Amino acid sequence: MQILDGKIVAKKIRSSVKRELFELKEKLGLAVILVGENPASKIYVAKKEKVAKRLGFNSYNFCLPSNTTKALLINLIHRLNSDDTIHGILLQLPLPEHLNPKDFYHQIVPHKDIDGFHPTNVGKLHLEIPALYPCTPIGVIALLKYYNIQIEGQNIVMIGRSNLVGKPLAQLLSNHEGSVSILHHKTKDLKDFTKNADIIITACGDPKFFNSSYLGRPCSLIDIGINRLEDGSICGDMDYQDMIKSKYCKAITPVPGGIGPLTIASLMNNTLKAFKLFKDSI
Ligand code: GUN
Repeated sequence: MQILDGKIVAKKIRSSVKRELFELKEKLGLAVILVGENPASKIYVAKKEKVAKRLGFNSYNFCLPSNTTKALLINLIHRLNSDDTIHGILLQLPLPEHLNPKDFYHQIVPHKDIDGFHPTNVGKLHLEIPALYPCTPIGVIALLKYYNIQIEGQNIVMIGRSNLVGKPLAQLLSNHEGSVSILHHKTKDLKDFTKNADIIITACGDPKFFNSSYLGRPCSLIDIGINRLEDGSICGDMDYQDMIKSKYCKAITPVPGGIGPLTIASLMNNTLKAFKLFKDSI
């Protein structure tokens, strides 16, 4: 049984970004927009800024009050779109209730859209055209590759169908010739799928929901859930302690220390990629 350590892979990605940034003549700018007071988002945004600065980016956080209007937010995004010192823009989700994320996906210009949310980038992901793709899915692929876990021809179960993770990751895995089933909370007979899976990926936000009773053959387990329990501890969507005892658990990501660090490392890499793709296109 192998523990899939995301910290090692994230470090490798960060080192490579740092080296490339050092060799560039210009300093790249990363802008992160946070609206409101979501405590988890505040922690993520602070973490992103810390890593960005350490690697050599100019990092700018724009923290807006929770009553920010749609017009004001769009105005800021457009200002950053036309600012030549900014190479990547991220709008942290979730947004406060009165703002609908669907009103903003297309506002960040595709070549600065380091979350890969713009319909142009989503389309390019589906058409397998190089573009900016979402960070967590890229991180999962990097982890699978690092540990030589085969994707091609494998039965892969993706639990969760979010725009941020489930849908783009399923598409990326399919682009790598995996046979992917996308499941979610309304799926009937979940176990019929999971017991036949070679890889199970959870991103559904149900603390410790999946245990070894869901396994039916040797399987690699990727847990993207980050849930905070009442006692303050963090856990994934899988019951890690139960899974590691199963004869079917070939490999598993811990939470924390699995996919989490890869999301930020991929974000840094996407900002560099944004710069390179744009430079190649002009
Ligand atoms: N909220 C949690 N993770 C993410 C992410 O990767 N991107 C954005 N924009 N918001 C998030």
